Amino acid sequence: MSKVQEKWVCTECGNTQSQWSGNCSACKTWNTVEKFLEAKLPKGTMLQGAGVQKPIPITQVEIGAEERFSCGFPEVDKVFGGGIVKGSLTLVGGEPGIGKSTLMIQIAKKIADSGRKVMYVTGEESLSQAALRAKRVEAEHDNVLLYQETGFSRILQQIEKIQPDFMILDSIQICHKEELSAAPGSVSQVKEIAIALMKVAKELAVTTLCIGHVTKGGDVAGPKVLEHIVDTVLEFEGDRDLEIRMLRSKKNRFGKSDEMAIFSMQEKGLKEEENPSMIFLAKRLAPQTGSVIGTILEGSRPIFIDIEALVAPSAYPTPTRKASGFDPTRLAILLAVLEKKVGMHFAAYDVFLSIAGGVKVKDPAVDLALTLSIASSFTNKPIGADLVAIGEVGLGGEVRSVHKMQNRLKEVAALGFKRVLVPKGSLKETEKYPIEVIEVSTVDEAIQKILV
Ligand code: TYD
Ligand code: MG
Repeated sequence: MSKVQEKWVCTECGNTQSQWSGNCSACKTWNTVEKFLEAKLPKGTMLQGAGVQKPIPITQVEIGAEERFSCGFPEVDKVFGGGIVKGSLTLVGGEPGIGKSTLMIQIAKKIADSGRKVMYVTGEESLSQAALRAKRVEAEHDNVLLYQETGFSRILQQIEKIQPDFMILDSIQICHKEELSAAPGSVSQVKEIAIALMKVAKELAVTTLCIGHVTKGGDVAGPKVLEHIVDTVLEFEGDRDLEIRMLRSKKNRFGKSDEMAIFSMQEKGLKEEENPSMIFLAKRLAPQTGSVIGTILEGSRPIFIDIEALVAPSAYPTPTRKASGFDPTRLAILLAVLEKKVGMHFAAYDVFLSIAGGVKVKDPAVDLALTLSIASSFTNKPIGADLVAIGEVGLGGEVRSVHKMQNRLKEVAALGFKRVLVPKGSLKETEKYPIEVIEVSTVDEAIQKILV
């Protein structure tokens, strides 16, 4: 019998420490340190099994062909890097109510359609709730076996008995290993279950998707180590009140990690959107102050998004700065650039920024569009909906070039925009496009050309 050792782990960064503290000793986040029990192996255990494997030259390793299969959604297959790898373990994270279970049951049905056996373990909902959803999205299939269970050993028994090709676990936080005293969803449970699932996936070739809840910050709840254990981490996100949903890969051992699939949530479940650019812009009617169109790259594909800013006199001595879908620190930097390089003063103004459609933007190519939207709201001058702004903004107010400009410009022309603002030096690539290309080298110059 192995001894158990008490440890404390930070759910944000995964750092372990021997004592509790109010904030994590590594990442300094508050209230994230949780107790977990780690099995302390008896002396000598580490050496068991030694000698079975020995180090061999890398050139002599036999590389087996990676077996992949389609999940039935072409865009999701792309996110996986060209289909799901057989025997892989994927974690799908997302906020409650975003549509994780809906996506999973639809994937289950499509996989069953391809002649595979699917086991859907529903720990969070009753059988009838899960079946009702399946009926609603027309995902009923005889080869999708619903199983309501939260005990891991019983789930394992059924896996061995049924031998499904594919398993969905909804969710990892509700599942528990009976032999651990910790509560379901705790760090030790989640971690142990992930390790066990990995073994099942690899040894029994059961390709597994497991749902994970997310914390306020948007990370999958449980220790960061959870993300290290699994092969692939997907994030399902979007604005719950809007119909757009995005599935993107955050980590992928078997492919690129920046691909994204876009869905819309409809009456009968999720539908893949092949032309996502337009859905993010659909609501745009006439020129509006504080609203500018920018591009982000998702994988190799440019997507157009509407960036909205509102600059309004503040009623308080400390004005508010709020950004949804965008890093607040980056917003503060861009405001400082506008203050210093353009002479717009925001000390008495609240600034709100929102990216339409609930997209979370990381691509620096939106900097210029963002800066212009703030300037437009500040000066009360509209910018036409026929214009797209592309460019990164540096601390000195300079507009910097962005990667994949060619791709972005091709799409700008294809979608019928009339004008595009680009960093100086981009023109040689763009000569052949039938749009007005306006080159700028600083934010100030961009404002002079567009807003005045
Ligand atoms: P669900 O898959 O239960 O979310 P999660 O598992 O991430 O918590 O879906 C939740 C929402 O999706 C629910 O509020 C209603 C909506 N929905 C639709 O709009 N259409 C549908 O066909 C289904 C099944 C759900
Ligand atoms: Mg659910």
